[in-house]
Amino acid sequence: MKKIRVNLGERGYDVLIASDLLKKAGNHLKEHGFSGRLVIITNPKIQALYGSLLVERLSNNSFEVFTLIVADGEGEKSLDVAGHLYTELSDCHVERKTPILALGGGVVGDLAGFVAATYKRGVPLVQIPTTLLAQVDSSIGGKVAVNHDKLKNEIGVFYQPELVLSDITVLRTLPSDEFTNGMAEVIKSAFIKDDQFFVFIENNLTKIKALDEGTLKEIVFRTANIKTNIVIQDELDTGLRNILNYGHTIGHAIETTSDFDVKHGHAVAIGMIVAATIAEKLGVFDIHDLFRLKSLLEYLGLPTKMSHLDTGKIIHVMKHDKKISGGKVKFVLPKKIGEVFITDEVDFAIVEEVLRS
Ligand code: NAD
Ligand code: GLY
Repeated sequence: MKKIRVNLGERGYDVLIASDLLKKAGNHLKEHGFSGRLVIITNPKIQALYGSLLVERLSNNSFEVFTLIVADGEGEKSLDVAGHLYTELSDCHVERKTPILALGGGVVGDLAGFVAATYKRGVPLVQIPTTLLAQVDSSIGGKVAVNHDKLKNEIGVFYQPELVLSDITVLRTLPSDEFTNGMAEVIKSAFIKDDQFFVFIENNLTKIKALDEGTLKEIVFRTANIKTNIVIQDELDTGLRNILNYGHTIGHAIETTSDFDVKHGHAVAIGMIVAATIAEKLGVFDIHDLFRLKSLLEYLGLPTKMSHLDTGKIIHVMKHDKKISGGKVKFVLPKKIGEVFITDEVDFAIVEEVLRS
């Protein structure tokens, strides 16, 4: 088993990464000091795959388990659904010390995390991420939120979990496009912070595609480690943590202009290529490294260009993004593989030229 400590003082926690971890979840929760009642929040798909296994193992460890089910999909990240969950928690007589276990991908994690953060001013939260994206990104760092008025993550707080249990074995049942989606974040993390890890991915592509568990464990561990190191330096996202948005400024604008037809990982992949091309045009990034990024994304089935993009609309969305401060758009640009910088000085004529090309 691999373990990462998210060292945030009294809000610190462990991320455990292993095969067949769900089977041992009861032991880990007991070791953490939990006892008595627990509430699992999940969706019907994950419930069917892993719900009974988890409940059985928790019951064997003398936990009293309630399971609350929300529907599958981004639409569940809403105040409405959170409201229903509050009622159900109240019906289950959840107390301030009763932990909520978020069993699922980023949608369940963000929603259940938001509910845990706000119900009775905060009950303990355990993240049990079941997608690659959730294991390497959303379960770590405490960003929990719901969407509002078509705006993503508009209502949320920072609320750290008490424990993260990442079971590599569950990735076997992940649909391949969801796996690819998570790989976009893995490549992003290596690209912004760890050139050796980038080389590791380049050298292990066949094993990654074959979902080799040892390789996936290494990938989840190294990516989660990168995220952890950034989060512990900038928990509240006031500076350094922005680098995790590499490829996301343009990616988010692509998602929005396509009315979310373009998947998040695909949009981020194109965003990463656009940002790297801008950096290359500015003379700060080597064209050979741009080709390496492109080859890696393409090999894993991620797009690196899109012919039907509406450049004008994308630029408009970028200029009106909620993350803009002082009217300036922040870009994360690479200097080399493993090192990026943040700038709000990019001339939009270059952005437009690169998008058009
Ligand atoms: P998701 O939660 O919608 O899961 C994708 C699909 O895979 C769903 O249909 C789900 O039911 C299914 N699934 C999950 N685990 C499975 C498994 N093991 N086997 C088979 N099917 C499985 O999508 P996601 O990509 O995990 O998360 C996206 C969400 O995460 C977005 O809402 C995004 O805003 C959020 N997010 C949050 C953060 C953060 O820091 N909080 C970071 C990145 C993304
Ligand atoms: N997913 C970006 C962050 O957690 O800051």
